[in-house]
Amino acid sequence: MDKIKAVKGMPDITPDVSWQWSQIEHTLQQLFTSYAFREIRMPIVESTGLFLRSIGEVTDIVEKEMYSFPDRNGDSMSLRPEGTAGCVRACIERNLLEQPQKLWYRGPMFRYERPQKGRQRQFHQIGAEIFGYSGPAVEAEILIMTARFWQALGLSDSVSLQLNSIGTAESRRRFKEDLVNYLKKNTANLDEDSQRRLDSNPLRILDSKNADTQALLKEAPSLMNYLSDESSNHFAELCSLLKSENIAYEHNMQLVRGLDYYNDTVFEWVSDKLGAQATLCGGGRYDGLVEQLGGKSCPAVGFAMGVERLILLLEQKGFAALKGEPLPDIYFMVADTSYHKEALDLAERLRSLLPDFVIMQHFAQSSLKNQFKKADKSGARFALILAESEIANQQVTVKNMQLGEQKTFAIDNLSDLTDYLTD
Ligand code: HAM
Repeated sequence: MDKIKAVKGMPDITPDVSWQWSQIEHTLQQLFTSYAFREIRMPIVESTGLFLRSIGEVTDIVEKEMYSFPDRNGDSMSLRPEGTAGCVRACIERNLLEQPQKLWYRGPMFRYERPQKGRQRQFHQIGAEIFGYSGPAVEAEILIMTARFWQALGLSDSVSLQLNSIGTAESRRRFKEDLVNYLKKNTANLDEDSQRRLDSNPLRILDSKNADTQALLKEAPSLMNYLSDESSNHFAELCSLLKSENIAYEHNMQLVRGLDYYNDTVFEWVSDKLGAQATLCGGGRYDGLVEQLGGKSCPAVGFAMGVERLILLLEQKGFAALKGEPLPDIYFMVADTSYHKEALDLAERLRSLLPDFVIMQHFAQSSLKNQFKKADKSGARFALILAESEIANQQVTVKNMQLGEQKTFAIDNLSDLTDYLTD
């Protein structure tokens, strides 16, 4: 019979790597908590309309990449391609925005893209959204916090920050008009994708990787010249806060981001060690989205990073910043399966006394010699053995796998044994 395979671009996270995921999540969770963020968990499936109204109908994500399907009722549902829209929907629906909120989330996102290194159809984001603050200080805080993430993961020298201001919707409207007029005079030099975007989403042309298009853009109007005084001052203040906190950045005037909801500040942490998928983390301000989705006007800012890309960078460093996979402390073996009752009982008593210990019990019938081989392979620090004489004398034998030393302890009172194991 044909084996059923995983869906293309949706790999499993197997136990040999899942410990890396847990440690990354644990490290970031601690940092989020230290910045007073709380976790929110949103559903993976939302009404398709939510994404059309937030990400934008003429973005790549909505036009080409969404997993959308009618449910049994005929309503159009989508697997979430990102977390911001669902987070805003949840905050409005659960009345969370009566006061400022600092929220973080993690989980799978889905985009129907062509899979390649660092790009999958199911991928994972760790993201954060802050609601209720309009000044640049909160943007400075999240950029300082993300810099601290990279530091905690030993990645500070692998990433750099790109920053831009895309102003208000009105500034972008005026800019777009002039940009389109300029580009329409030079359509012959525009790549195919950019020609298509001229009418649908001209700002994305700034992102084009095509050399001719980029050359053309050098002489094009610049969005910076269309920013209102308020937007310019906001950006200048953010830059000065970052400088005073020693957060290095590059002002990239071509950076516009691929989702429609942003205004003013946008940023990306990029890496030259990720190949074509260079963006590790992206975000920005989106002051209009809450109102656009039916809530009361509320300023907001956030970001999300791709965990798979984070892992690619950590891999290049040999995962040096992580603690390594947790190995068993005790490999518990019995000479005969008829001793399992005593073994289970002793293992449970030890788990209560040594809650941090990893105790691996051997259940299959096999020789002690064979079980010692398994214990050795498992990397356990100790082997515990119950054989005939131990059972007869109410004892347990412990072998220190590193020293090769073997000792026997009474099991009616376990304090000598636990002292030895924790010494
Ligand atoms: P985004 O730039 O679309 O922003 O995605 C954020 C990050 O998710 C990217 O920088 C990348 O690391 C990762 N990512 C995106 N697509 C894929 C993929 N197909 N495979 C692997 N990784 C991927 C957002 O999603 C916004 N919601 C961020 C945000 C939050 N803005 C404000 N708040």
